[in-house]
Amino acid sequence: MKTAGKSSGQLGVLILAAGQGTRMVSTLPKVLHRLGGRPMIYYLVRLANAMKPSGIGIVVGHQDDVVRKEVQDLLKDAGVTRPVTFIHQKDVSGSGAAVIESLPVLKKFQTAMVLCGDTPLLTFDTVYAMLHSHRESKGQVTMLTARVRNPKGYGRILRSTSGEVIRVVEETEANPKEAAISEINSGTYTFEVPLLVQALKDLKPQGPKHERYLTQALEIMRQKGGRVSAYQASSPDEALGVNTRVQLALAERVLNRRMLERLMLSGVTVLDAETTYADADVEVGQDTVLLPGTILRGKTKVGRQCRIGPYTSIEDSSIGNETSVAYSVVSGARILEKSAVGPFAHLRPDTVAGPRARIGNFTEVKASRIGFGSKVPHLSYIGDSEIAEDVNVGAGTITCNYDGEHKHKTIIQAKAFIGSNVNLIAPIKVGRGARVGAGSTITQDVPDGNLAIARSQQVNKAGK
Ligand code: UD1
Ligand code: CA
Repeated sequence: MKTAGKSSGQLGVLILAAGQGTRMVSTLPKVLHRLGGRPMIYYLVRLANAMKPSGIGIVVGHQDDVVRKEVQDLLKDAGVTRPVTFIHQKDVSGSGAAVIESLPVLKKFQTAMVLCGDTPLLTFDTVYAMLHSHRESKGQVTMLTARVRNPKGYGRILRSTSGEVIRVVEETEANPKEAAISEINSGTYTFEVPLLVQALKDLKPQGPKHERYLTQALEIMRQKGGRVSAYQASSPDEALGVNTRVQLALAERVLNRRMLERLMLSGVTVLDAETTYADADVEVGQDTVLLPGTILRGKTKVGRQCRIGPYTSIEDSSIGNETSVAYSVVSGARILEKSAVGPFAHLRPDTVAGPRARIGNFTEVKASRIGFGSKVPHLSYIGDSEIAEDVNVGAGTITCNYDGEHKHKTIIQAKAFIGSNVNLIAPIKVGRGARVGAGSTITQDVPDGNLAIARSQQVNKAGK
């Protein structure tokens, strides 16, 4: 992702993530709910880092250890290069209280940007523009606002007749006239730290839960002679705060739409953006077509000129160039170029197939290698197997890899031909160029070039 260019000297970014997220009705802390395959807070951490601050503070409180661990684990993937400090909020009693707890960290900076862990749709461009506007205004605080169709649940922005920001009124405190204001607080701010420190001292518990609201600090800063400015986001999406699962679904939709647009603009055809999903880290090559019902999850990479879908789910897998995957489920697998998968195949972890492999109609493959040009086209189960190149596996062939206690390997060497409806009882090896007759249950290795038949002989009885 883009970054703010050269380091922004004395800037610190604080992410508030100590709340439980009561309205999610969940045992999982809110900021860990997933969006685009990543915990919500991933996007904030990535954004914070992109601002090139001198440091990033993350306020944790509710299930502190769980959130800390998840964040620690995602720092690398988020490309975080700036120092991160966790701040423990002992008493989770409001956004203002969270910033008060963070003061020892914030005091190291001249300017502090505060982000909420539940606003995953904020973009770098907008936050950067807010910082720029803050610096231009030479004021003490700039907040990011947005005009929304339904302001319910957000703090409303009260402006004077001349347009100056006077204060933020929280939903719980708003009278009907204030509640009708459509400009809302996104929960994103840039503060000059010295005056913020002064203002926080005067915060009073408010609202039904007697919390200290960060929004009250704005009013106090103004009373102390500071300038409070607002920068309005160009799209209301940016300000979306995820408090409920309804908002989580809205955020998922926006994020997915952005992702698909990025793919489309890089040369990917998406037939139906309404039913196609791609997680944040998915990569798709040029001139690939994604058909309706395609779901690309995790760290999936799809090559160029592929045809994926319809109704296909691919997770943490890589698909080589010019490959087709139709009506299938693929997870933890690597399909090499010019292969064809499906319809109705299930490729499970540690499968590597191709190039030019064909895995079709109702075939399941687990932890197996299927070599160059080899085919398992119909109704098979292939598990813990090594199938070399140019092998044909007939319809209904099963590798019997499990004896009830242990898994065993099946090896099929190059150019072997397995007839239909064969059971290969592992551990077993079928040699190079060997053939196995249809309907056989193979219990002994087949030497190179041999024909193995293991089935009871047909008896024709006359007159029956
Ligand atoms: C807050 C703002 C509101 C704004 C909205 C934007 C206040 C008082 N209100 O309301 O004006 O329109 O965000 O989405 O700030 N948190 C802590 N510690 C706490 C409480 C909260 O770290 O003690 C964190 C939460 O984890 C969350 C963020 O602060 O990430 C915002 O808290 P939340 O309870 O969601 O605030 P809102 O009611 O949405
Ligand atoms: Ca919120």
